[in-house]
Amino acid sequence: MNICVIGAGYVGLITSLAFAKIGNNVICVEKNVKKVDSLNNSIPTIYEENLDELLLECLEKKTISFTNKLEYSVRNSDVVFIAVGTPSLENGEVDMSQVHESINEISKYINKYTIIVNKSTVPVGSQKFVKNLLIKNGVSSDNFDVVSNPEFLREGKALYDFFYGDKIVIGHESQRARNVMNLLYKPFNIPIIFTNPETAELIKYTSNAFLSTKISFINEIANLCNKIGADIDTVALALGLDKRISPEFLRPGIGYGGSCFPKDTLGLISIGQKYDCPFEIVKSAVSVNNKQRVIPVDLLLSEYDDIKNKTITLLGLTFKSGTDDIREAPSLYIIEELLKKGAKINAYDPMVSDEIREMFPNIKYFDNMNESILESECVVICTDWEEFKDLDLDFVKDNMKEAFIIDGRNMLSLDEAKKRNIKYYSIGKGYTN
Ligand code: UDX
Repeated sequence: MNICVIGAGYVGLITSLAFAKIGNNVICVEKNVKKVDSLNNSIPTIYEENLDELLLECLEKKTISFTNKLEYSVRNSDVVFIAVGTPSLENGEVDMSQVHESINEISKYINKYTIIVNKSTVPVGSQKFVKNLLIKNGVSSDNFDVVSNPEFLREGKALYDFFYGDKIVIGHESQRARNVMNLLYKPFNIPIIFTNPETAELIKYTSNAFLSTKISFINEIANLCNKIGADIDTVALALGLDKRISPEFLRPGIGYGGSCFPKDTLGLISIGQKYDCPFEIVKSAVSVNNKQRVIPVDLLLSEYDDIKNKTITLLGLTFKSGTDDIREAPSLYIIEELLKKGAKINAYDPMVSDEIREMFPNIKYFDNMNESILESECVVICTDWEEFKDLDLDFVKDNMKEAFIIDGRNMLSLDEAKKRNIKYYSIGKGYTN
């Protein structure tokens, strides 16, 4: 099929490449000319496992191209995916302005039956909103169908998830649209749930809010474990063996971040407000997460009478390992709080981005884990990068001003820390006295 994808951000790029890989002709339209040039020259604009090879392969086979011009692509496509940004507004509502703008643009060019697919995470009712906007803009209702097709991709594993996901959700109103979407997704051999648009839109929020709640729940249990001497890994293992619960998303830590969970939990709460459904559980999951991510700050403040000019090393800045994304990362909140209190910050992350350097120009960035902890008072592990498991505790003992580790992702062993007389705090796996 001929496919147009609007937006070469995370979702747009992965969607474009996956459809191009299986032999469709894809044009990805992106406003940012720098991104367009980069992608056409086979230089990825995001970090994602196996993306470089796939981009090169699709460009060589000419199944994909990138442009900033919409007209040709829309006029020549069977399906147009909207994959533009839908960030949260201050009040938790979803900012639909980019979707709005894209629909206004494509309205000018639809001249034959085209399926418009909402791929961005959009509030319940967005399919109707898009449909009404197209009609208002003068597009004949015979010439389009609007489909809701949320994505469930994990950053870092997004291509894998696209090809081997658990489910595909298609919210549609016509048999014609259903047939086209079925044909498009059939080669992936993943179960497809066909439903109405409202249900499809709600599934995305429900899924992300549920997973966020699962994490906040295990984090609260982990906090209790530290107080009563229980071990969170064993609790989580036992829980996960119950098939009704599953072992996934039971890893405790200093909270979830990223582009989806924080945004979609607030999004669901905001949808609930409109329909008098207060979502008390999701509100609590958010509030637990807000507290969880600053646990290291609370510990530091209770450890030192005055934290001013103390040097604290943060290991890991990204919201999780396997990505360079820092959106809503707990590290950002920790840095902000510590800087406010006058602490000095060293930071090491294997994927440190220019974005965070610009955001916090006053912290010291290191290319090497060991160098970043020299002469510092405390190490706070914020991200679950594998290499942090190899932190040499003898080196820590010999080279830090005071050997104190707050292990926000449970990467190290309490017993090993104890052996070396290192002050150590984990999330639900105990701490030294
Ligand atoms: C998530 C969803 O998994 C995906 O389906 C959706 O489309 C987008 O949001 P992503 O944000 O890439 O994907 O990351 P994910 O791996 O789900 O982790 C989200 C956050 O939860 C991270 O900060 C991670 O560190 C945290 N997390 C995850 C935990 O703290 N504990 C866990 O057990 C799992």
